[in-house]
Amino acid sequence: MSQRKPRILSGIQPSGSLHLGNYLGAVQNWVRLVDDYDCFYCVVDLHAVTQPYEPAELPERVFDLAVGLLASGLDPDRCTLFVQSAVPQHAELQWLLNVITPLGELERMTQFKDKAERQGQLAGLLNYPVLQAADILLYRADRVPVGVDQQQHLELTRELARRWNYRFGEYFPEPQPLFTKAKKILGLDGVAKMSKSMDNVIPLLAEPDEIRARVRTAVTDPARVRKDDPGNPHVCNVFALHGFMSPAAERDEIEILCQTAGIGCVACKGRLADNLASELAPIRERAAELRAHPERVREILDDGAATARRVAEETMTEVRARMGLGRLS
Ligand code: TRP
Ligand code: SF4
Repeated sequence: MSQRKPRILSGIQPSGSLHLGNYLGAVQNWVRLVDDYDCFYCVVDLHAVTQPYEPAELPERVFDLAVGLLASGLDPDRCTLFVQSAVPQHAELQWLLNVITPLGELERMTQFKDKAERQGQLAGLLNYPVLQAADILLYRADRVPVGVDQQQHLELTRELARRWNYRFGEYFPEPQPLFTKAKKILGLDGVAKMSKSMDNVIPLLAEPDEIRARVRTAVTDPARVRKDDPGNPHVCNVFALHGFMSPAAERDEIEILCQTAGIGCVACKGRLADNLASELAPIRERAAELRAHPERVREILDDGAATARRVAEETMTEVRARMGLGRLS
């Protein structure tokens, strides 16, 4: 008999359509992990409401994200894709974990400090990492693929698992982070990480014209003022993007052409835009297809939520019993 595959849980904020940085940095990895793990992927709308937002727009952001994930190749037959708020057990476990969470640990979190400074001291921001711990422990996940920015949150999750197990009996595995060769994708400014809030993104589902227009604004080697100056591709983010999106031979060719002033930045960007447009074409087409059939997307999320609720309820039955809660027997 084959052993059960180790379980993964990861979450992604429903910030709407994906961009190239999400795709290369996280989503491609999620797609691959379904081969070796029993994957649960959660669109964390309960986390999203800790930030200022427009209620009427949230369902659309969730939908757009789901379309992006599915179009990127996430196979709903091989993983469980669901929306957090469709599984009420997340909020329930969050409450129960709160009662064993030291306040000092939450106040120390760098993300809390940053956000509280900008948005005000709301309890939802403070408890954000406890909800994240609940997401993970609810599925008794073994591994959590995350970026390094989530390391503190994962450490807290492990601590809460230990505390809970100590108090109520061994039950939760201590989830390990899964840092996959994290690609750091810089935005078009060539300085900050590609992110929607920085407005430096290449949208994953952009049409070729938009891709070209966006790439044209990319910052290049700042020392290369004229076309016949030799450039340094290794300080140029356009070259880094070639590395992710262009065939290796073309990348090597551009490296030399740039260093010998054999190509200008405009032409170099044109080639990048062409390669992006053709590499991303299948994703764009799948997304259009899904958009034309929104009921299919809803059905996938409903099925995912049903599976997730089943697993979550199994966990909560045990958790409630061990904590002395629930129906009297
Ligand atoms: N906090 C994570 C982020 O902003 C999102 C998240 C929520 C998450 N729950 C999770 C990530 C559980 C991993 C596991 O990226
Ligand atoms: Fe960057 Fe290309 Fe210009 Fe070289 S030619 S500096 S790699 S954009």
